[in-house]
Amino acid sequence: MPDLVSGAPASIRVLGIAGSLRAGSYNRALLRAAGALAPAGMEIVLFEGLREVPPYDADVDAAGEPAEVAALRQAIGKADGLLFATPEYNYSVPGVLKNAIDWASRPVHRSVLQRKAAGIVGASAGASGTIRAQLALRQSFVFTETYAMLRPEFFLPRASERFDVSGELTDEPTREHLRQFLAALDAWIRRFRTRPSA
Ligand SMILES: Cc1cc2nc3c(=O)[nH]c(=O)nc-3n(C[C@H](O)[C@H](O)[C@H](O)COP(=O)(O)O)c2cc1C
Repeated sequence: MPDLVSGAPASIRVLGIAGSLRAGSYNRALLRAAGALAPAGMEIVLFEGLREVPPYDADVDAAGEPAEVAALRQAIGKADGLLFATPEYNYSVPGVLKNAIDWASRPVHRSVLQRKAAGIVGASAGASGTIRAQLALRQSFVFTETYAMLRPEFFLPRASERFDVSGELTDEPTREHLRQFLAALDAWIRRFRTRPSA
Protein backbone atom coordinates (compact mmCIF):
# COMPACT_ATOMS: atom_id res chain seq x y z
CA MET A 1 0.00 0.00 0.00
CA PRO A 2 1.74 3.20 -1.08
CA ASP A 3 2.18 6.14 1.27
CA LEU A 4 -0.08 8.75 -0.34
CA VAL A 5 1.89 11.71 1.00
CA SER A 6 5.38 10.84 -0.15
CA GLY A 7 4.71 8.09 -2.69
CA ALA A 8 7.02 5.90 -0.61
CA PRO A 9 6.04 2.29 0.07
CA ALA A 10 4.45 1.44 3.38
CA SER A 11 7.20 -1.06 4.04
CA ILE A 12 10.58 -1.98 2.65
CA ARG A 13 12.26 -5.37 2.57
CA VAL A 14 15.96 -5.50 3.42
CA LEU A 15 18.13 -8.54 2.74
CA GLY A 16 20.65 -9.12 5.51
CA ILE A 17 23.87 -10.90 4.50
CA ALA A 18 26.30 -11.96 7.22
CA GLY A 19 29.81 -12.72 6.04
CA SER A 20 30.38 -15.60 8.42
CA LEU A 21 29.45 -19.29 8.31
CA ARG A 22 30.11 -19.84 12.01
CA ALA A 23 27.11 -21.06 14.01
CA GLY A 24 27.88 -18.61 16.81
CA SER A 25 28.69 -15.71 14.48
CA TYR A 26 28.48 -12.31 16.10
CA ASN A 27 27.72 -10.82 12.71
CA ARG A 28 24.71 -13.03 12.14
CA ALA A 29 23.62 -12.26 15.70
CA LEU A 30 23.99 -8.58 14.85
CA LEU A 31 21.63 -9.00 11.89
CA ARG A 32 19.14 -10.82 14.09
CA ALA A 33 19.28 -7.89 16.51
CA ALA A 34 18.82 -5.52 13.58
CA GLY A 35 15.69 -7.41 12.60
CA ALA A 36 14.28 -6.84 16.07
CA LEU A 37 15.34 -3.19 16.30
CA ALA A 38 14.38 -2.09 12.78
CA PRO A 39 11.98 0.84 12.54
CA ALA A 40 8.33 0.25 11.69
CA GLY A 41 8.06 -0.27 7.96
CA MET A 42 11.42 -2.02 7.57
CA GLU A 43 11.59 -5.82 7.43
CA ILE A 44 15.01 -7.50 7.55
CA VAL A 45 15.22 -11.02 6.09
CA LEU A 46 18.47 -12.97 6.43
CA PHE A 47 20.10 -14.65 3.46
CA GLU A 48 20.94 -18.16 4.64
CA GLY A 49 22.51 -19.64 1.52
CA LEU A 50 26.05 -18.27 1.70
CA ARG A 51 27.62 -21.65 2.48
CA GLU A 52 26.14 -23.15 -0.69
CA VAL A 53 27.47 -20.47 -3.05
CA PRO A 54 30.30 -22.15 -5.01
CA PRO A 55 33.70 -20.54 -5.60
CA TYR A 56 33.41 -18.03 -8.41
CA ASP A 57 34.25 -19.52 -11.81
CA ALA A 58 33.59 -17.45 -14.93
CA ASP A 59 33.29 -20.62 -17.03
CA VAL A 60 30.52 -21.93 -14.78
CA ASP A 61 28.86 -18.51 -14.86
CA ALA A 62 28.99 -18.45 -18.67
CA ALA A 63 27.53 -21.97 -18.90
CA GLY A 64 24.50 -20.96 -16.82
CA GLU A 65 24.22 -19.80 -13.23
CA PRO A 66 24.17 -22.52 -10.57
CA ALA A 67 20.90 -22.71 -8.61
CA GLU A 68 22.62 -21.42 -5.45
CA VAL A 69 23.86 -18.38 -7.33
CA ALA A 70 20.44 -17.79 -8.86
CA ALA A 71 19.00 -17.84 -5.33
CA LEU A 72 21.53 -15.25 -4.21
CA ARG A 73 20.98 -12.99 -7.21
CA GLN A 74 17.20 -13.25 -6.94
CA ALA A 75 17.22 -12.49 -3.23
CA ILE A 76 19.33 -9.38 -3.84
CA GLY A 77 17.33 -8.36 -6.87
CA LYS A 78 13.98 -8.59 -5.04
CA ALA A 79 15.15 -6.66 -1.97
CA ASP A 80 14.62 -2.92 -1.61
CA GLY A 81 17.98 -2.69 0.07
CA LEU A 82 20.81 -4.70 1.58
CA LEU A 83 22.41 -4.87 5.00
CA PHE A 84 25.86 -6.44 5.14
CA ALA A 85 27.32 -7.55 8.46
CA THR A 86 30.94 -8.31 7.80
CA PRO A 87 33.56 -9.83 10.05
CA GLU A 88 37.13 -8.68 9.49
CA TYR A 89 39.52 -11.37 8.30
CA ASN A 90 43.15 -10.33 7.96
CA TYR A 91 42.18 -6.68 7.65
CA SER A 92 39.68 -7.39 4.86
CA VAL A 93 36.37 -9.02 3.89
CA PRO A 94 36.05 -12.79 4.56
CA GLY A 95 36.42 -14.85 1.40
CA VAL A 96 32.90 -16.29 1.56
CA LEU A 97 31.39 -12.81 1.48
CA LYS A 98 33.71 -11.49 -1.22
CA ASN A 99 32.93 -14.61 -3.27
CA ALA A 100 29.18 -13.97 -2.99
CA ILE A 101 29.69 -10.36 -4.04
CA ASP A 102 31.76 -11.50 -7.02
CA TRP A 103 28.90 -13.73 -8.20
CA ALA A 104 26.30 -11.05 -7.54
CA SER A 105 28.39 -8.47 -9.43
CA ARG A 106 27.91 -10.23 -12.77
CA PRO A 107 26.76 -9.52 -15.47
CA VAL A 108 29.05 -6.56 -15.19
CA HIS A 109 27.39 -3.09 -15.25
CA ARG A 110 23.90 -4.60 -15.09
CA SER A 111 24.13 -6.77 -12.00
CA VAL A 112 21.63 -6.94 -9.14
CA LEU A 113 24.07 -4.90 -7.06
CA GLN A 114 23.93 -1.98 -9.44
CA ARG A 115 22.10 1.02 -7.97
CA LYS A 116 21.04 -1.05 -4.97
CA ALA A 117 21.06 0.80 -1.66
CA ALA A 118 23.02 -0.86 1.12
CA GLY A 119 24.17 -0.48 4.68
CA ILE A 120 27.32 -1.93 6.19
CA VAL A 121 27.84 -3.01 9.79
CA GLY A 122 30.32 -5.33 11.39
CA ALA A 123 31.28 -6.97 14.66
CA SER A 124 34.72 -8.14 15.69
CA ALA A 125 36.14 -9.91 18.68
CA GLY A 126 38.94 -7.36 18.93
CA ALA A 127 39.13 -3.61 19.32
CA SER A 128 38.87 -2.39 15.72
CA GLY A 129 35.21 -3.30 15.13
CA THR A 130 35.76 -4.20 11.44
CA ILE A 131 36.85 -0.72 10.34
CA ARG A 132 39.25 -2.09 7.73
CA ALA A 133 36.90 -4.80 6.45
CA GLN A 134 34.14 -2.25 5.97
CA LEU A 135 36.43 -0.02 3.93
CA ALA A 136 37.41 -3.01 1.79
CA LEU A 137 33.74 -3.80 1.22
CA ARG A 138 33.06 -0.21 0.21
CA GLN A 139 35.85 -0.48 -2.33
CA SER A 140 34.02 -3.34 -4.10
CA PHE A 141 30.82 -1.31 -4.05
CA VAL A 142 32.47 1.49 -6.00
CA PHE A 143 32.87 -0.81 -8.98
CA THR A 144 29.48 -2.49 -8.59
CA GLU A 145 27.78 0.93 -8.26
CA THR A 146 26.12 -0.18 -5.05
CA TYR A 147 24.90 2.80 -3.05
CA ALA A 148 26.46 2.07 0.33
CA MET A 149 25.33 4.54 2.98
CA LEU A 150 28.26 6.69 4.08
CA ARG A 151 27.11 7.80 7.53
CA PRO A 152 26.29 6.96 10.19
CA GLU A 153 28.84 4.16 10.44
CA PHE A 154 28.41 1.16 12.71
CA PHE A 155 31.40 -0.65 14.20
CA LEU A 156 30.97 -3.18 16.99
CA PRO A 157 34.27 -3.98 18.76
CA ARG A 158 34.82 -6.48 21.62
CA ALA A 159 31.73 -8.42 20.64
CA SER A 160 31.92 -10.89 23.51
CA GLU A 161 31.15 -8.02 25.91
CA ARG A 162 28.02 -6.93 24.04
CA PHE A 163 26.24 -10.22 23.32
CA ASP A 164 25.18 -12.79 25.89
CA VAL A 165 25.99 -16.47 25.49
CA SER A 166 22.80 -17.09 23.51
CA GLY A 167 23.76 -14.45 20.92
CA GLU A 168 21.40 -11.75 22.15
CA LEU A 169 22.68 -8.19 21.77
CA THR A 170 22.37 -7.03 25.36
CA ASP A 171 24.47 -3.85 25.48
CA GLU A 172 21.94 -1.01 25.57
CA PRO A 173 24.17 1.76 24.11
CA THR A 174 24.96 -0.55 21.19
CA ARG A 175 21.26 -1.35 20.72
CA GLU A 176 20.45 2.35 20.62
CA HIS A 177 23.25 3.02 18.14
CA LEU A 178 21.90 0.21 15.96
CA ARG A 179 18.37 1.67 16.14
CA GLN A 180 19.70 5.01 14.94
CA PHE A 181 21.74 3.39 12.19
CA LEU A 182 18.67 1.49 10.96
CA ALA A 183 16.51 4.61 10.98
CA ALA A 184 19.10 6.31 8.78
CA LEU A 185 19.30 3.24 6.54
CA ASP A 186 15.52 3.19 6.18
CA ALA A 187 15.58 6.77 4.87
CA TRP A 188 18.58 6.00 2.64
CA ILE A 189 16.95 2.95 1.02
CA ARG A 190 13.69 4.80 0.39
CA ARG A 191 15.62 7.44 -1.55
CA PHE A 192 16.87 4.85 -4.02
CA ARG A 193 14.01 2.37 -4.00
CA THR A 194 13.16 1.04 -7.46
CA ARG A 195 11.02 -2.05 -6.73
CA PRO A 196 7.38 -1.44 -7.65
CA SER A 197 4.91 -1.33 -4.76
CA ALA A 198 3.56 -4.74 -3.86
C1 LIG B 1 41.00 -15.99 9.50
C2 LIG B 1 40.66 -14.94 10.51
C3 LIG B 1 41.21 -13.69 10.40
C4 LIG B 1 40.86 -12.69 11.32
N1 LIG B 1 41.37 -11.44 11.15
C5 LIG B 1 40.94 -10.42 11.94
C6 LIG B 1 41.32 -9.07 11.67
O1 LIG B 1 42.03 -8.78 10.74
N2 LIG B 1 40.83 -8.10 12.49
C7 LIG B 1 39.97 -8.38 13.54
O2 LIG B 1 39.55 -7.47 14.25
N3 LIG B 1 39.60 -9.66 13.82
C8 LIG B 1 40.05 -10.67 13.03
N4 LIG B 1 39.64 -11.97 13.28
C9 LIG B 1 38.77 -12.24 14.44
C10 LIG B 1 37.30 -12.00 14.11
O3 LIG B 1 37.01 -10.65 14.39
C11 LIG B 1 36.42 -12.89 14.96
O4 LIG B 1 36.72 -14.23 14.69
C12 LIG B 1 34.93 -12.60 14.75
O5 LIG B 1 34.22 -13.21 15.79
C13 LIG B 1 34.46 -13.15 13.40
O6 LIG B 1 33.11 -12.81 13.15
P1 LIG B 1 31.89 -13.82 13.43
O7 LIG B 1 31.75 -13.90 14.93
O8 LIG B 1 30.72 -13.18 12.78
O9 LIG B 1 32.24 -15.16 12.86
C14 LIG B 1 39.99 -12.98 12.39
C15 LIG B 1 39.46 -14.28 12.49
C16 LIG B 1 39.77 -15.23 11.58
C17 LIG B 1 39.15 -16.62 11.70
